[in-house]
Amino acid sequence: MPVAPITIHQPRRLAVGAGTVGQVGDWAADASSVLVIATPITAGFIERLQLRGRVTVFDAIPGEPDIATLDAALSAARDARPDLVVGLGGGSVMDVAKLVAALWHGEQTLADVAGPNRVNGRNTRLVQVATTAGTGSEAGIRSLITDPVKGNKIAVESPHLIADLAVLDPELTYSVPPAVTAATGIDAMAHCVEAFTNRRAHPMIDDFARMGFRLVGKFLARAVKDGADTQAREGLMLASYYGGICLGPVNTAAGHAIAYPLGTLLHLPHGLANAIIFPHVLAFNQPAAPEKTAEVATALGAVSATSPDAVSDMARRFCLDLGVEMALSAHGAREDDLTRYASDAHAIRRLMDNNPIDMSVEDVLGIYRAAY
Ligand SMILES: [Fe+2]
Repeated sequence: MPVAPITIHQPRRLAVGAGTVGQVGDWAADASSVLVIATPITAGFIERLQLRGRVTVFDAIPGEPDIATLDAALSAARDARPDLVVGLGGGSVMDVAKLVAALWHGEQTLADVAGPNRVNGRNTRLVQVATTAGTGSEAGIRSLITDPVKGNKIAVESPHLIADLAVLDPELTYSVPPAVTAATGIDAMAHCVEAFTNRRAHPMIDDFARMGFRLVGKFLARAVKDGADTQAREGLMLASYYGGICLGPVNTAAGHAIAYPLGTLLHLPHGLANAIIFPHVLAFNQPAAPEKTAEVATALGAVSATSPDAVSDMARRFCLDLGVEMALSAHGAREDDLTRYASDAHAIRRLMDNNPIDMSVEDVLGIYRAAY
């Protein structure tokens, strides 16, 4: 079957390695007003950027940024009038930074730009400094903002959201706790794997995916064990970045669709939600992509996994060995809520339609029950 053409967007410049965060100041030497988007924790890294000039910090970014978060950040930008926006954080921070850089100066609202290719332009430079290894948001052109009323995610996608400079400095991830390291690492792997077994899979993206999930298989356990293992941390930042590239032209599929209600309704962190769902969807999809699933299993250290049950056991074991609590019930989910989650997840067609096997609402509910 011929593959559909793809277009890949990547940051104009990418700095990778221990200490590279210090390059931001020189790169931005001509910026007169810099707005740093952060969290109260990641704001602690601002000195390391070595910025000069006037620096304003907006650090009120929660785990799942919503419309009000974005409005507050835009308002901070209209006060600061930045010529450079720096996203210093994980996916939530970087997603907000993208939209702030693109929207603060113009007339367009979030509603105006929701969907693909609706952002008119951007006249503010954007630097993305990742402080977790998971979302790969620094690599791409998509931003996800929660609509608290509808309980879903608004996806904005535009080439105008790409970073001018992205920084992958493993030292910024040393302090990420083991549980978060595990969950975000599994999320990065899920981006790669869901693109790899995707209905819209592409040979070039497949190779980015392979690099990503092999790095996770090689380094995630090491980083969970020793947070200051520079080589492992750097490997995971690359895996996250490759996952971000996978998200661009191919994107995720049922795994992320099924994880989303756990974020929007149950308020689980995105990485954790994906970790819980990951083994079940990998197993569900195994019959449609047996060879690719076997490649994933090998990368995760399994001897062989040639049936859905074996795949599910293998992937679950991988996550449990990293210390992830895999039972939804242990995270406060109520059995009565699973039906609502299933109908919400099934309705996320932009991802569900990418899945190599069509899932009915009952299939989705079956996955939540199995994860419960
Ligand atoms: Fe994700």
